[in-house]
Amino acid sequence: MTEARFITFEGGEGAGKSTQVRLLGDALTARGISHVVTREPGGTPGAEALRGLLLDPAHDWNARAEALLFAAARADHVANLIRPALAEGKWVLCDRFVDSSRAYQGGAGALGDEQIMALHAIGSDGFLPHRTFLFELDAHEAASRAATRDAGNGDRIGGRDAAYHAEVARRFRELAEAEPKRFVPIAAAGSPNDVHGRVLAALADYLP
Ligand code: TYD
Repeated sequence: MTEARFITFEGGEGAGKSTQVRLLGDALTARGISHVVTREPGGTPGAEALRGLLLDPAHDWNARAEALLFAAARADHVANLIRPALAEGKWVLCDRFVDSSRAYQGGAGALGDEQIMALHAIGSDGFLPHRTFLFELDAHEAASRAATRDAGNGDRIGGRDAAYHAEVARRFRELAEAEPKRFVPIAAAGSPNDVHGRVLAALADYLP
């Protein structure tokens, strides 16, 4: 049996993370590896309720309030879904995790990394993934993919301006460079299957 792994998928909007989470889930199933697929914000009933509040354009949360709510949602998710699944020997594939808070609220929202990691220490004992894939896509292609997907109905955060998203991308890259053991940058250009091949290659050391 393989050791249960916690794998996260990060990147800006439109990078194809959700498709890649699904394809990796299928690949694990094909290998007989039990796993759960989840996402942030969300993953548990309480965190999904917070997701609704966070992404609803009716609310104008500032970066601090946003960071606190994301950390609260994550605390529930880690305690009630992620840790229990790993304890049962299941892999956990998660679409976004704390690195999104570091890039969006900490970087683009200017709160800084220390504050985000302090909230993560309080909420989730600083729990980190075994491996984090950073999906990187040219800004123009990412914006056009996200626009096609959202068809004018982007959420409160996804709908922010290009400068905000450029800062998110820059910050993600810095995080990946600072933690090369955990992060694997993945070129998100090309077909979903091409990108999936890159993900599998980058997991070869964990797979049977
Ligand atoms: P989602 O629809 O999951 O976005 P995507 O499909 O692009 O991954 O919405 C999540 C939004 O919340 C997205 O704009 C990124 C943002 N976010 C943060 O700002 N901080 C966080 O910690 C997380 C988990 C997400």
